[in-house]
Amino acid sequence: MKRELVPNRNINGEITVPGDKSIAHRAALLSILSSGPVTAVNYPDNSDCRVTLEAVRKFGVEIEQNDNAVVFKPPHQIKLPDDTIIDCGNSATTARLLAGLVAGSTMEVILSGDDFLSRRPMMRLVTPLKEMGAELFDQEGCLPLKIKGKKLLPFEYRLPVPSAQVKSALILAALASRCSLLIREDTLTRDHTEIMLGQIGEGIAVREIKASMVPDPKDPRKKKVFMPEDFKKEIKLTSGARVKGGLVDIPGDISTAAFFMAAAAIGRGTLTIKNLGLNPTRTAFLEHLKAIGCKVEIKDKTTLSGEARGQVTVTGGTLKARKVAGETTVGLIDEIPVVAVMAAFAEGTTVIRDARELKVKESDRLAATAANLQRMGVKCGLLDDGLVVEGTTELPGADFSSFGDHRIAMAFSIAALFLEGPSSLDDDSVVAVSCPEFYNLLESIKA
Ligand code: S3P
Repeated sequence: MKRELVPNRNINGEITVPGDKSIAHRAALLSILSSGPVTAVNYPDNSDCRVTLEAVRKFGVEIEQNDNAVVFKPPHQIKLPDDTIIDCGNSATTARLLAGLVAGSTMEVILSGDDFLSRRPMMRLVTPLKEMGAELFDQEGCLPLKIKGKKLLPFEYRLPVPSAQVKSALILAALASRCSLLIREDTLTRDHTEIMLGQIGEGIAVREIKASMVPDPKDPRKKKVFMPEDFKKEIKLTSGARVKGGLVDIPGDISTAAFFMAAAAIGRGTLTIKNLGLNPTRTAFLEHLKAIGCKVEIKDKTTLSGEARGQVTVTGGTLKARKVAGETTVGLIDEIPVVAVMAAFAEGTTVIRDARELKVKESDRLAATAANLQRMGVKCGLLDDGLVVEGTTELPGADFSSFGDHRIAMAFSIAALFLEGPSSLDDDSVVAVSCPEFYNLLESIKA
């Protein structure tokens, strides 16, 4: 539905955001392979996570929904008719992780998705899964994907694209097939699968390679950075790795909270988010807020189910431009649209590079962000791998398009708060993909 967006610069208060989508998908999907029940506390109710619930139900997992938790009871034996079609809707995490799981099983499944998901690349996982011995039939590199599960071979792989979805697909494939696996990452990506398997399973070992300072042989008075390996992380699964079941307590989703924190940042307000996920592979947005001139305070930090969490208070200030590139871009992968919105209200010119991956998200997020920024009068350049955004003051209201993408809809609903006149969004329903509560939460922190 079309939504009218009214300016309101006063953003203050305290909220909790729904549970982390990435962690929720993993808890549900791992339950298919589990020997005992998996209880996911704070499982979010959004359309992506509902798609995953329906998918795991097809594998015979019994689902009990209580007030605050979803209990997944795995079947004794998975019985799935050949060529069962599983509709993954808009959710790439569901499709990609399930592709791995089925590839290593004895099942034959067809994975499909909506028009948006059907355009997203699948070869990044089809190629390594075929190398492991799986049989997959893609549609020119995309869904629908027919998968004939096979007993897979032990596998070693260095991720060519920094993608937590590909990494997790391979882990689920190895788990389903009970074969050993070694994955190396050059750039750290979100590690919820590894953490969860360590918590509710066994047979996984993770080694993070840390840099140290050593005397420089050319000048012993100086020190230089030494990396003992040429990769950042190694994940090993033994052939005995398995899921046993247990409790997964899901913290608030930092990628959803980012929109509200951005509103406080631009409006120079103070916003507290309780029980927010603080896994270090996901906190680049907090570092970004600090780097552009905000205050970020963390209280009550604790770890549950292996996942760090705490109370975060953001206080906005005079925002400054910053160059975002390399590992920082990977860390901000889902936050780039709202990072670009903040850049429009910052002093100076923000350059975002190494963000080519954004072209194959729920929409082409580089083009969608640039188009909406230009509609609100911002000078914005579209690069092959990023954006250049010139900060401006006193921008007029605009008619935004969501491009069918929840994060574009939320990013520009935030931008509209700080424009000089009313704006509109062509379709607000897409926010339901990750946060149906978005407009209610936003209302609750407006003065
Ligand atoms: C996700 C990984 C990221 C992210 C997506 C969720 C996950 O995708 O953008 O929203 O849950 O593993 P990539 O693995 O494609 O980078």
